[in-house]
Amino acid sequence: MPVTTREIHLVARPEGEPKPSDFALVERRLPDPRDGELLVRNLAISVDPYMRGKMTGIRTYTDPYDLHAPMEGAAVGVVETSGDASFPENAVVVHNAGWREHAIVPAAGVRPVNVTDATPATAYLGVLGMPGLTAYVGLLHKAGLREGDTVFVSGAAGAVGGIVGQLARLWGAERVVGSAGTAEKVRYVTRELGFDAAFDYHDGPVADQLAKAAPDGVDVYFDNVGGEHLEAAIGAAKDFARFALCGAISGYNATGPRSGPRNLGLIVTKRLTLRGFIVSDDPELAGEFHRDVAPAVAEGRITFRETVVDGLERAPEAFISMLRGGNIGKMLVRTS
Ligand SMILES: NC(=O)c1ccc[n+]([C@@H]2O[C@H](COP(=O)([O-])OP(=O)(O)OC[C@H]3O[C@@H](n4cnc5c(N)ncnc54)[C@H](OP(=O)(O)O)[C@@H]3O)[C@@H](O)[C@H]2O)c1
Repeated sequence: MPVTTREIHLVARPEGEPKPSDFALVERRLPDPRDGELLVRNLAISVDPYMRGKMTGIRTYTDPYDLHAPMEGAAVGVVETSGDASFPENAVVVHNAGWREHAIVPAAGVRPVNVTDATPATAYLGVLGMPGLTAYVGLLHKAGLREGDTVFVSGAAGAVGGIVGQLARLWGAERVVGSAGTAEKVRYVTRELGFDAAFDYHDGPVADQLAKAAPDGVDVYFDNVGGEHLEAAIGAAKDFARFALCGAISGYNATGPRSGPRNLGLIVTKRLTLRGFIVSDDPELAGEFHRDVAPAVAEGRITFRETVVDGLERAPEAFISMLRGGNIGKMLVRTS
């Protein structure tokens, strides 16, 4: 039976901060899935910072979104009609046709997930999905965390940052320090996630607050923010410190030149390693990530929060709110 469904299209490329009028809610009739395809009813969709880059017309490591077409992004849903015997109806699957209520997807582009009380379907968009894998790859494989390290994480209360801090603890860091944008987030990372210290970056210069939180310096910096945070981390770095450069969200809505670290000379004198990475470059690490992290989540050694907005029509609002810091943990939109 063909279904009528709704999806969000990008209709204008945002200038600076995205506006609701950059998006449109579009109704559409979907055909029946063909052999090898699945009709999936999405339960939840993910809104992620990288999508801001895809909204510009410029290709970076990934193609930009087309205007007047459904956007892509991670989603978790239930198979309603199956054209592939390996995916029974009612199977819960993760795929990349987000920003819509239903999708017809090739079975080859879908991954079944194991839903339990400890690992709800939405966990596969956050702690057990791309953000969790990003934290794991960046901290353990790019920064090369070692026992006894002092680790600094920016964006500490977010989807990636919150997992970085907990992995650092579990993998033997001596001290874990975070920064976030509100007092509530600072409490969350210190009381619930086990960070040793944290600060609100609005409370004063990042360099001053970092010097108090990590007085002996930093061995590893996991950068989600860029700009002033990166400059402060270079200043606080010990000799031979390692940085995983994951994102630079402080500049994603910038319309002019971004302020960069003014102390790049210290990279030489301190013999620092700064390593940018994109999680999709290392798909072979997904297996060890699930082996290591899924049990820790199931046993409660790694915890996570979600900020959930109800209704596909509110997805643009959720996305804009996430860029402004409206989320604790993973920002999601419940679509069903
Ligand atoms: N390299 C990769 O493969 C990869 C993969 C996934 C994500 N990322 C990057 O990782 C970072 C975190 O992503 P996420 O999915 O976990 O998002 P998130 O942290 O859950 O949400 C974004 C957060 O960014 C913070 N933020 C916004 N503007 C800021 C500013 N000017 N200064 C400091 N913080 C600001 C806000 O928190 P506050 O309230 O704390 O400001 C907001 O909640 C992003 O930079 C993203 O692009 C990279």
